[in-house]
Amino acid sequence: MAKAKRKGSSSGGGSRGKSSKRARRGASASGQRGAAARKQSGGTSARGGRNGEPDAIALLKADHRQVEQWFAEFEEARSKDQKRELAENICKALEVHTMIEEEIFYPAFLEATDDKDTHHEAELEHANAKQVIADIESSDPDDDYYDSRVKVLSEMIKHHVNEEEKSDGMFAEARESRMDLAALGRALKARKDELMSETTSPDAPPPRMTPAQRVVESKP
Ligand SMILES: [Fe+2]
Ligand SMILES: [Fe+2]
Repeated sequence: MAKAKRKGSSSGGGSRGKSSKRARRGASASGQRGAAARKQSGGTSARGGRNGEPDAIALLKADHRQVEQWFAEFEEARSKDQKRELAENICKALEVHTMIEEEIFYPAFLEATDDKDTHHEAELEHANAKQVIADIESSDPDDDYYDSRVKVLSEMIKHHVNEEEKSDGMFAEARESRMDLAALGRALKARKDELMSETTSPDAPPPRMTPAQRVVESKP
């Protein structure tokens, strides 16, 4: 299966010093950041860009819904071909989704909020999911563990999506921040289109590892 090539670093930027999440939320609650975001995005609605394009969060949530649907279809699937096709769709979609988040959305989130805990936990969850994705891609529905791997991935993604979408999660925090979600939505869409159409030769260099992946890989 074709793998998407990683572009640039996804380290998410440097430290900006310690500030508590509560203090940041207090600042956000003042409404100043929300007003700045609306001003920065040219007065567009929270859900869409100037031409009705999805903003960053709408685009990422749509990806989540698509993958959830494929996981549900996998549970119902009986034929090996169906399972293989669904698992390939899931793995490719998650590879691209995690990559655009790590390259574009997560660094912008860290820059705007200084919330290193949320950022780092999200990157580590991606790294763990990628290990299971790699296991699925290197196995086959004939493998005794294939369905279990897909189930475990489904549970990991369910947890991760909840962390991103819950009422005090990353996306809610991003909405309250000064992030330009309309511009980020356009950048995510462009990069997603590029990655989805990309095929790499078998001898292409592997994607660069994020700091989170390096932590996971170095574990005994
Ligand atoms: Fe996501
Ligand atoms: Fe994510």
